[in-house]
Amino acid sequence: MDTSALFNIGYGLYVLTTRHNDIDNGCIVNTVTQVTSNPLQIAVTVNKGNYTHELIMNSCVFNVSILTTETPMFVFEHFGFQSGRKVNKFANCEAEHRAINGVLYIPKYTNAFLACKVNNSIDFETHTMFIADVLDAQVLSDKPSVTYDYYQNHIKPKPQPQKPSNGKRRWECKLCGYIYEGDFLPDDIECPLCKHGKEEFVEIFDAETPKQSPITTNMNQIKLTDNIFYVGVNDRRTDLFENHMELPNGVSYNSYLIVDEKVALIDPVEAGFIEEYLFKVKSVLQGRKVDYLIINHDEPDHSSSIAAVLREWPEAQVVGNAKTFAPLEAFYGPIENKKVVAEGETLSLGTHTLQFFMVPMVHWPESMVTYEQANGIVFSNDAFGGFGALNGGIFDDQVNLAFYEDDMRRYYANIVGKMAMQALKAIEKLGGLDIKMIAPSHGLVWRSNPAWVIGKYTQWSKHEGEEGVVIVYGSMHGNTGVMADIVARGAAEAGIKEVKVYDVAKTEISFIMSDIWKYKGVIIGACAHYANMFPNMNLLTHEINEFKPKSKCFGIFGGMSWSGGGVKTLAKYAEEGQWNLVAENVEVKGAPIREEDWDKLYNLGKTVAEAILKV
Ligand code: FEO
Repeated sequence: MDTSALFNIGYGLYVLTTRHNDIDNGCIVNTVTQVTSNPLQIAVTVNKGNYTHELIMNSCVFNVSILTTETPMFVFEHFGFQSGRKVNKFANCEAEHRAINGVLYIPKYTNAFLACKVNNSIDFETHTMFIADVLDAQVLSDKPSVTYDYYQNHIKPKPQPQKPSNGKRRWECKLCGYIYEGDFLPDDIECPLCKHGKEEFVEIFDAETPKQSPITTNMNQIKLTDNIFYVGVNDRRTDLFENHMELPNGVSYNSYLIVDEKVALIDPVEAGFIEEYLFKVKSVLQGRKVDYLIINHDEPDHSSSIAAVLREWPEAQVVGNAKTFAPLEAFYGPIENKKVVAEGETLSLGTHTLQFFMVPMVHWPESMVTYEQANGIVFSNDAFGGFGALNGGIFDDQVNLAFYEDDMRRYYANIVGKMAMQALKAIEKLGGLDIKMIAPSHGLVWRSNPAWVIGKYTQWSKHEGEEGVVIVYGSMHGNTGVMADIVARGAAEAGIKEVKVYDVAKTEISFIMSDIWKYKGVIIGACAHYANMFPNMNLLTHEINEFKPKSKCFGIFGGMSWSGGGVKTLAKYAEEGQWNLVAENVEVKGAPIREEDWDKLYNLGKTVAEAILKV
């Protein structure tokens, strides 16, 4: 709804006067209408905060003096911009002009007056409509009546560009011209002159310091709430996350801005996106400065723009915990304006209060989350994050979740999964909060169904696998690949529908690790390479033993030409990593062309499958 449409109603402007207990007072109104002609009645609606309202409630009489187009601005200022509670608006009257009801009327700059007596009233909570009999009416001149539109365009002075004092921002009441100065416009502001609220104020900018961004305040603004904004960026140009995990769907670096009496910027973004990022932040701030830069996590995919942010807002306090600043200063040099917060400590921004909770090792030792109490938003940094750029949809209710789930699990399995126990503890700790929204630093913002992502993270942290098996092989000339197909047949015929077969030399490890985390079964095959195993398989087995996915049913197979090495090396990794081997290892010399080898491989798949189905 565009409420400015109401400005197109043809309002007149009037001086409404009254008298009670020998006190004369008057104010400017635009709400006079004739109700009936026989009997002759008019109505006028008055804000309850006005002194004139109080006097009419007691006296039940008033006059309406109809202003003309010749009315100078000082008349509006005299009757409209000051309260009769503080000044006697008729103190310097040269002569009294009273109507038959004893109330003063305005003889100058008017073309008529109506003398009235209240016969009824309607209470509108903030205003009262007085309905009155017209006791007398006189024409005073032939000048045309002034309309609100005429007043705005021909009488009211145009705002003169002025520098805000002390760097303050300025808002003007659209109705009476009152200027409010401050860091922000309070939600409960009431214009001291015309008594209207926040919706009637517009921010004004001086000529020398125009808005810092050429865009309007509504462009590019993505809101979590009225005063909390998403200001993150998408990265579709980095090939490898942390320089080793492929990003076919990109990744987002999320950042959030809370605009209150104080402004807090939560977790900046990767430095390569600083221009886009600052543009977004400034377009929201419209000249305001950042007071607090919250660092939930030191890793450079978030923190590497910290120097650029502090160059822009050098007075900002950098907020972190006791473990935040040593690594941060090791990366970027000394940080002067630090604020160290402890577990559960709060930081008030005005109407928003932030509270900090430590979640060590999700993802680094200093990792923490920031909880915004008023709206129940957890700014969780890496926790509850996922790969995948945000393709227009920022919130969980704006996208097809199936698209993001795989990339979320891949992110979890390769980044958070190693610390599954700590992730679980963090989930349990945050479970005590009233969480209405989860805003991580990668991936979707969970505003509609945060329980969904909490459920997924809980499932993955508890190593609750799904029914399925991942078969990964390393093969130099294809024979071990043929073996993998035979193993897969055994698993499929035993009743496993989700059988994923990967060539370790073709598929980047993070995708394989993601499926290993997802399913209950893992069968690994490697050919020999000298006395060791196919080289690429070393990285995968290293990652398995590093991340330690639990509750899996493992199997091992491989090929050899002369002295072997593949199965032997896999067995060594299995022993070190305490893999739960549920079937005999199978080693095939040459190609799987002998029936007994085919049977062993088929039975390996079948046995692992049966173990999966029993779990
Ligand atoms: Fe997204 Fe551990 O940084």
